[in-house]
Amino acid sequence: MDPLVALAEFETQALAAIAGAANAAALEQVRIEYLGKKQGKLKDLQALLGKVPPDQRPAIGKRFNEVRDAVTTAWEQRHQALQQPQRAATAIDLTLPGTPMQLGRLHPLTQTIREFREIMARFGFEVVDGPELEDEWHNFDALNIPLDHPARDPLDNFYLSAACTASGKPVLMRSQTSTVQVRVMEHRRPPVRIVSIGRVYRPDDIDRTHHVMFHQMEGLMVGHDVTMASLKSVLGMFAAAYLGGDTEVRFRPSFFPFTEPSVEVDVRWKDGWLELGGAGMVDPNELVAVGYDPEEVSGFAFGLGIARFCMLRHGIDDIRLLYENDVRFLRQF
Ligand code: FA5
Repeated sequence: MDPLVALAEFETQALAAIAGAANAAALEQVRIEYLGKKQGKLKDLQALLGKVPPDQRPAIGKRFNEVRDAVTTAWEQRHQALQQPQRAATAIDLTLPGTPMQLGRLHPLTQTIREFREIMARFGFEVVDGPELEDEWHNFDALNIPLDHPARDPLDNFYLSAACTASGKPVLMRSQTSTVQVRVMEHRRPPVRIVSIGRVYRPDDIDRTHHVMFHQMEGLMVGHDVTMASLKSVLGMFAAAYLGGDTEVRFRPSFFPFTEPSVEVDVRWKDGWLELGGAGMVDPNELVAVGYDPEEVSGFAFGLGIARFCMLRHGIDDIRLLYENDVRFLRQF
């Protein structure tokens, strides 16, 4: 028989036999029949090769090697495939107890933010968002913070050197959520009753109660007859709702360029007081700047540090724990 035809026949038959072997024993039979060293069919073909005229030997020898490699590889692959179930069964011990799934949970700050939203919604405040990257108009000018005010110092803010507004003005990471007051009043007519919760950024020294990035909740209410008494009652009710009815709240006179009068809000903490936020009656200048008539409407605004509320509620005595995301700490909430 033509050795090339014999090789082709051998290849077809051997591959079919390998594919058809249903178990390891049958596959072993196939190996003996086709690839066996003593009397396998491959051995017969090799003998045939010896009789080929010398000038044809290189081509036929090459083909012989190809066929032998293809059949051997197919056999090895099938052999491995037939071993698989056995291996899997030995690797998994079904009697061992399983590894419990680690359930994720909400970060304590996220829980606080959700609760803040829910409480303020009950008081009739709508939740709005504002951008973290701000222009100087919304972060300072519209809030009555003049150019020479120390709060605008580049060393006290995170200005971006690689970005600017469309008109080429500087931009910064907002240093307070009060920016949202302006953004809301620019687009709405009174009455307004909103809160806005988000991150703010300041290059403060980091300590137990300060971080360089933290969360604030801004509140704004504008309408007829909105007074300091309204502000005090909303903040008092809010503190009671989140921290408990017996929470001692203190209002201290203070100054913010965009509120008049202004107060700082503290609650009892350990042996002293912890400052939770600033607040006050919206300065008439700010109302005019956004096109409201201060003779017609008045408003209050407040900005609260969210992490500090969270710390009080859970007895956390270092704000860094809330921003460093150590899962051993976070798992407790
Ligand atoms: C303001 O940011 C004003 N925008 C608040 C305001 C809003 C006043 C509306 C009037 C009307 P102040 O810088 O005091 O104010 O910050 C408010 C609160 O944010 C602080 O009381 C404190 O709870 C929190 N806070 C301030 N700096 C940090 C900081 N570095 N880390 C964590 N919390 C901070």
